[in-house]
Amino acid sequence: MYPSRPLPHLRLLILALITIVGANPASEWGPTVSRVYDTTDKIPLPNQGHLQVHDPNIILHNGSYYLFKGGPSVPIFKATNMTGPWSKIGTVLDGDSIIHTGNRSRPWAPTTIARDGTFYCYYTLSTHGSRKSAIGVATTTTLDGSPWTDHGAVIHTGDGEGSKVWPFTITNAIDASFITDNSTGKSYLNYGSFWHDIWQLPLSDDLLSIEDPGDPDAMQLTFLPHERVKPQEGSWMSYRDGYYYVWFSHGKCCKFTEGFPVRGMEYSIRVGRSKNVRGPFVDKDGQMLLDGGGSIVYASNHGKVYAPGGIGVLDGNETTPDILYYHYLNTSIGFFDSDAHLGWNLLNYSDGWPFVVDGILMSADSGTMAYLPNCFYLTIVMFSWLYIWS
Ligand SMILES: *[C@@H]1O[C@H](CO)[C@@H](O)[C@H](O)[C@H]1NC(C)=O
Ligand SMILES: *[C@@H]1O[C@H](CO)[C@@H](O)[C@H](O)[C@H]1NC(C)=O
Ligand SMILES: *[C@@H]1O[C@H](CO)[C@@H](O)[C@H](O)[C@H]1NC(C)=O
Ligand SMILES: *[C@@H]1O[C@H](CO)[C@@H](O)[C@H](O)[C@H]1NC(C)=O
Ligand SMILES: *[C@@H]1O[C@H](CO)[C@@H](O)[C@H](O)[C@H]1NC(C)=O
Ligand SMILES: *[C@@H]1O[C@H](CO)[C@@H](O)[C@H](O)[C@H]1NC(C)=O
Ligand SMILES: *[C@@H]1O[C@H](CO)[C@@H](O)[C@H](O)[C@H]1NC(C)=O
Repeated sequence: MYPSRPLPHLRLLILALITIVGANPASEWGPTVSRVYDTTDKIPLPNQGHLQVHDPNIILHNGSYYLFKGGPSVPIFKATNMTGPWSKIGTVLDGDSIIHTGNRSRPWAPTTIARDGTFYCYYTLSTHGSRKSAIGVATTTTLDGSPWTDHGAVIHTGDGEGSKVWPFTITNAIDASFITDNSTGKSYLNYGSFWHDIWQLPLSDDLLSIEDPGDPDAMQLTFLPHERVKPQEGSWMSYRDGYYYVWFSHGKCCKFTEGFPVRGMEYSIRVGRSKNVRGPFVDKDGQMLLDGGGSIVYASNHGKVYAPGGIGVLDGNETTPDILYYHYLNTSIGFFDSDAHLGWNLLNYSDGWPFVVDGILMSADSGTMAYLPNCFYLTIVMFSWLYIWS
């Protein structure tokens, strides 16, 4: 049911409140939302050449970084340093995917892994707002120049082979990520978006298909049980010191030029952990990820970085830190999806919980701590006045 309109004087009060809150954004928001900004105050590290990406994926191989991103045929870029500059070296697919779902020429959210000399690139085919989706996989043995082989779909939801089997009847086959159980060597595919959020499936040993496709041993990893819209997607899984970390993006990813969400409901990067690759996962406050939990690691900050998400983690070693990478919008550049840039920061851990740290070449950003892009604030005020006078 739609609430009836407040009385005129109440409308004026609401407007006054919005204006005051907007003018003083740092202090007037509830604890959950203000925590977003308190915990994330690091500007992304350099991105020479301003590489534009959506849902980046990066692997380190033979001393070079290889970046895969959502885009026509899955573009591949290469750099010798995370700071860039990045040069395009090819695409994963020759043309359209062999899967007949979504936009076959424009896959989303690739995740590439290396196993025994072969590279596996899991990619997504879908369209906005639809559960008719598929995760496909392509392989190659060398990243520079050699052609990839497209093996087609690993899973389908909504439509296509296997889509009538639970949990493909209730989930959305997008945003693949990958993890190997450190004690058993078994590999898993994580996926999901909105609907029933993020899920995990055991992969067959060939990594090209799932185990038991007629009755998969599926596990749900995250869920927002109390919200009608369940904006969690783009999972990633990492392993460090006995813990599996499930990372995901929470909130609105795209189409900000058509409207901004309530502050804090734009993309932010969240995490939970478990000693078991299959969960259950909990956040820093002990809340289950199946019950809406997820600790914020990185989010909009300084009034410059907006809606970071589409993440991955590049594992460090004894001498190099882990790296969190993502895409974000720079509020001085623009809010079109195509304006999204590559961002990255070094990670450190406290009691086994990751946090973003300063790193090389940090430019001292004098940031006025305005927090909100001005156009967002203006949009709210404008709509409030329209509402008063309508
Ligand atoms: C590794 O990188 C070096 C230097 O870029 C190159 O000469 C060599 O061919 C590469 N090796 C492989 C196996 O790709
Ligand atoms: C990347 O570039 C930065 C800045 O020039 C430099 O400090 C760093 O050592 C480089 N890293 C590698 C792995 O070459
Ligand atoms: C598929 O994606 C391409 C590239 O973004 C776009 O040009 C094309 O219009 C899309 N096709 C459909 C049917 O949406
Ligand atoms: C488990 O992790 C350790 C250290 O990260 C590694 O040396 C070992 O090979 C891993 N085992 C498996 C089965 O992946
Ligand atoms: C750690 O990783 C860096 C590359 O990021 C590599 O140069 C170095 O050799 C690695 N160190 C160890 C101990 O594996
Ligand atoms: C945002 O873009 C402006 C203008 O190009 C640039 O000066 C600034 O460094 C960028 N900030 C971030 C965090 O990308
Ligand atoms: C990482 O965090 C720990 C606290 O957990 C701190 O003692 C250490 O100095 C930090 N290391 C770096 C490189 O920031």
